[in-house]
Amino acid sequence: MPKLLLLLLSLVFISVLGSQWLPVDGVQTSSADLAYLRSFAAATGADNALGWHVGSDPCEDHWPGLHCYDGKATNIDVQGKQLLGTVPDTENGSLSSLQVLNLGDNRFTGKLPLLDLPQLYILRVDNNDFRNMPDKFFSGMPMLQYINITNNTALAEWGFSTVDMRSLPALFSFHANNAGLNGTLHQLFSNTTAGFPFPSLARISMADNQLSGTMPVLKGTAIRQLDISNNRLSGSIIFITDLASSANRLQLSHNAFTGSLPDFSEFTQLSVLSVDHNQITGIVPSSLPRLEDIKSVYLSGNLLQGPVPEFNISVHTDVAKASATGSFCRLDRGPCAPEVESLLLIAGAFGYPHSLAASWMRNDPCAGWIGVHCDDRRRVTGIDLSRLGLSGTMDSAFGSLRSLEAIDLSGNNITGEIPASVAQLPSLRVIDVSNNNLVGTMPKFRHNVAVWTEGNPGLKQSGSSVYALNSVGLSALCLLCLLFSSI
Ligand SMILES: *[C@@H]1O[C@H](CO)[C@@H](O)[C@H](O)[C@H]1NC(C)=O
Ligand SMILES: *[C@@H]1O[C@H](CO)[C@@H](O)[C@H](O)[C@H]1NC(C)=O
Ligand SMILES: *[C@@H]1O[C@H](CO)[C@@H](O)[C@H](O)[C@H]1NC(C)=O
Ligand SMILES: *[C@@H]1O[C@H](CO)[C@@H](O)[C@H](O)[C@H]1NC(C)=O
Ligand SMILES: *[C@@H]1O[C@H](CO)[C@@H](O)[C@H](O)[C@H]1NC(C)=O
Ligand SMILES: *[C@@H]1O[C@H](CO)[C@@H](O)[C@H](O)[C@H]1NC(C)=O
Ligand SMILES: *[C@@H]1O[C@H](CO)[C@@H](O)[C@H](O)[C@H]1NC(C)=O
Repeated sequence: MPKLLLLLLSLVFISVLGSQWLPVDGVQTSSADLAYLRSFAAATGADNALGWHVGSDPCEDHWPGLHCYDGKATNIDVQGKQLLGTVPDTENGSLSSLQVLNLGDNRFTGKLPLLDLPQLYILRVDNNDFRNMPDKFFSGMPMLQYINITNNTALAEWGFSTVDMRSLPALFSFHANNAGLNGTLHQLFSNTTAGFPFPSLARISMADNQLSGTMPVLKGTAIRQLDISNNRLSGSIIFITDLASSANRLQLSHNAFTGSLPDFSEFTQLSVLSVDHNQITGIVPSSLPRLEDIKSVYLSGNLLQGPVPEFNISVHTDVAKASATGSFCRLDRGPCAPEVESLLLIAGAFGYPHSLAASWMRNDPCAGWIGVHCDDRRRVTGIDLSRLGLSGTMDSAFGSLRSLEAIDLSGNNITGEIPASVAQLPSLRVIDVSNNNLVGTMPKFRHNVAVWTEGNPGLKQSGSSVYALNSVGLSALCLLCLLFSSI
């Protein structure tokens, strides 16, 4: 905590009180620091812009924006002074006592300087025009706690496979929005032998870059704020459960995250969740609106299903927009139609696959939902989800669709048992579950139900009538075709 306080206080000094506040001594500048400060002044225009004149002594003559202690520079703040040019590398032990370096809001260009600054804990180079990130940029600053590189829009693409950022054990706050980042986060966050490489890292922003790939394991980290909006990240959104106990702001908009939202009961500190414009499917868990600290939730531009989540009036949210553009079963609050509820339970047991979510929208399954067949009284009579790459289990909600005549789930990777409720469907005529991974004992179907089960090595027959596809020439699919075309 004291470290954090120190950091925050320093930030306040930099941004609010400015350079006059900190005490300055009048000792002559050490020769190593003098050499660097003079080359910096000449290379960046600080000699004219800030009066950092060659003939004067930086510490003794109190160069504006510079603080010294005992003839050594401790703090350089030249934020927003319209400096330009290339910042020189440090060398020969110069600035060995520097703790804060603020170069933000200028027009520096060229490569980021190689800084060998053993004491530095705050570095701001944000809002500049830097062009290149040297591979060893971070290596010389082992004490860094806060880095801001945000908004260096001209920076050539760089990534953590070449740039070594993994040697910053004290890092607390890292900000690199719109800074040319590419590649994956695995190289940055993969564990060292000592565990997570950044044990104190709490605030990360890397929005508006070209990051790609899946998210690494973040379990056991202290991350409170994560902004990775507007990248090309993919994989399941479920990774956020790694951050359940620590997360306060999660901003993941405009990526390609898939899967469904996790239970939020453990996210006790969450106040901002933006996951809009991804590929997220399924029902919004009721645990999300129930969070005590939740203030903003953005969900639109996904494939969310089920009822509109009901947030307290004080929560900023885009659910109305999400609803109007096709997510959720209705525009207003309230439950979905009973058949929709059953179908969503079925989809949920398969993990709300994208292939279904892209079609199973709004509140009428007979309006062309993929794999759903209805009769002219708009009752669901057939479900054909064969060969869709489904995994997961068969939900007992199949048994709630009382008008079902045919079920075809063949050629997927469905596991678990066949629910007994399926065998009780009064109008069922055919069920094909062949070529899956079902286990257990078949429930007993009525004798006039055609049942296809081969290709499920773990499934035991119950002794009722079972059609074996290899002995019957007619394929189940074709039987289903006949059945559906006659409806
Ligand atoms: C650093 O040291 C090298 C060799 O010792 C010398 O050539 C160079 O001029 C020094 N640079 C500065 C900025 O003092
Ligand atoms: C980082 O720099 C950007 C651009 O100057 C600024 O808007 C932002 O507030 C800074 N972030 C933090 C956390 O200080
Ligand atoms: C980013 O930098 C550009 C110029 O390089 C500037 O116009 C813009 O205001 C900056 N954005 C932020 C958020 O500071
Ligand atoms: C990142 O950008 C650099 C420079 O353009 C390129 O060499 C590298 O292949 C990119 N990496 C990825 C993963 O896109
Ligand atoms: C990384 O280390 C942390 C802390 O030691 C641990 O909780 C986590 O499971 C590890 N992650 C991986 C992927 O090994
Ligand atoms: C909804 O928000 C209001 C105002 O912030 C608050 O007073 C009220 O307790 C909240 N209700 C619920 C159910 O959280
Ligand atoms: C099928 O599911 C099992 C268990 O979930 C899994 O181990 C296996 O890799 C899956 N097979 C295919 C082809 O997806």
